[in-house]
Amino acid sequence: MEKTVAVVGATGAVGMEMVRTLERRRFPVKRLVPIASERSRNRTVNFRGQAVPVEALSEDNIPAVDIALFSAGADRSRQYAHLFVGKGAVVIDNSSAFRMDADVPLVVPEVNAHAIKAHRGIIANPNCSTIQMVQALKPLHDAARIRRVVVSTYQAVSGAGRRAIAELTEQTKACLENRPVECDVFPHRIAFNVLPHIDAFERNGYTKEEMKMVNETQKIMEDDSIAVTATTARVPVYRGHCESVNVEFEKDISPDEARRILADFPGVCVIDDPANNGYPLATEADGDERTFVGRIRRDFTVRSGLNMWIVSDNLLKGAALNAVQIAERLFVQ
Ligand code: A2P
Repeated sequence: MEKTVAVVGATGAVGMEMVRTLERRRFPVKRLVPIASERSRNRTVNFRGQAVPVEALSEDNIPAVDIALFSAGADRSRQYAHLFVGKGAVVIDNSSAFRMDADVPLVVPEVNAHAIKAHRGIIANPNCSTIQMVQALKPLHDAARIRRVVVSTYQAVSGAGRRAIAELTEQTKACLENRPVECDVFPHRIAFNVLPHIDAFERNGYTKEEMKMVNETQKIMEDDSIAVTATTARVPVYRGHCESVNVEFEKDISPDEARRILADFPGVCVIDDPANNGYPLATEADGDERTFVGRIRRDFTVRSGLNMWIVSDNLLKGAALNAVQIAERLFVQ
């Protein structure tokens, strides 16, 4: 049956991908309701060849929809998600607002789709870096039980939204033209630089982004015994998060076995052909729905361990696609 779908934040980097993903995957949309701030009142969003007018988000005017995909930031989610639920919607929220709430499922459909049915109106979409990592960890955990994960990320600027994308372009031009560089979204220049800082710092010395990877991984994998430690960095790439992931296992698992297991897992594509310079790249992942894994090799410093390199389009599997897949599990399959 066709559904009425609101996209809250439809003019943003993730929201635009949500609209495109609904169209590309032929989600049965009866009516699309694109929503953004007052600033976007006169804008339209293209959907199935039509220019659909953007509505302004307001507490006085919450539309009655079947599904609301939220990507307008955690503050908007906290303020408005329950109002949409009150009007009968299931909210799939891309922000961090509810991810760790006990009564909110945190879902990567290939990993823990069964959690969806416990929802009480809100389902959380995990952090982009966590989604692509757990896609690779889950089948390996089932095969050899993970003890500990050490992850370092190389994250694209689009994860920080539209203004961050524009900032990289503007700073790059300014650097090449020897003009002064202005920083607005990021605390330091991102052009020709790497920032070991994503989201706010916590008192324990980690950033919120790093702690999301720790806590969300345990929640999605339903196993608090998996130890995760993370360093998250922003790199001057537009699209596609890369991760170096070191995993220690309880049981032995060889690189060949891991490649076979990963290749069989839905949504994962193994590219591991070093002899021909074959490994996952952000440029190749851009626009692709799959998560790519390569550089799979033994960690010789532990009894059983592997190193690997995981890359995915942060706006697709890391955000819009995962949200639409949750909606598909709810209403289509
Ligand atoms: P707008 O374009 O009207 O500012 P991004 O993550 O790329 O920065 O996008 C954020 C999205 O969230 C945009 O669609 C933006 O709309 C929307 N948004 C930001 N603040 C608000 C707000 N106060 N009310 C409604 N939508 C908002």
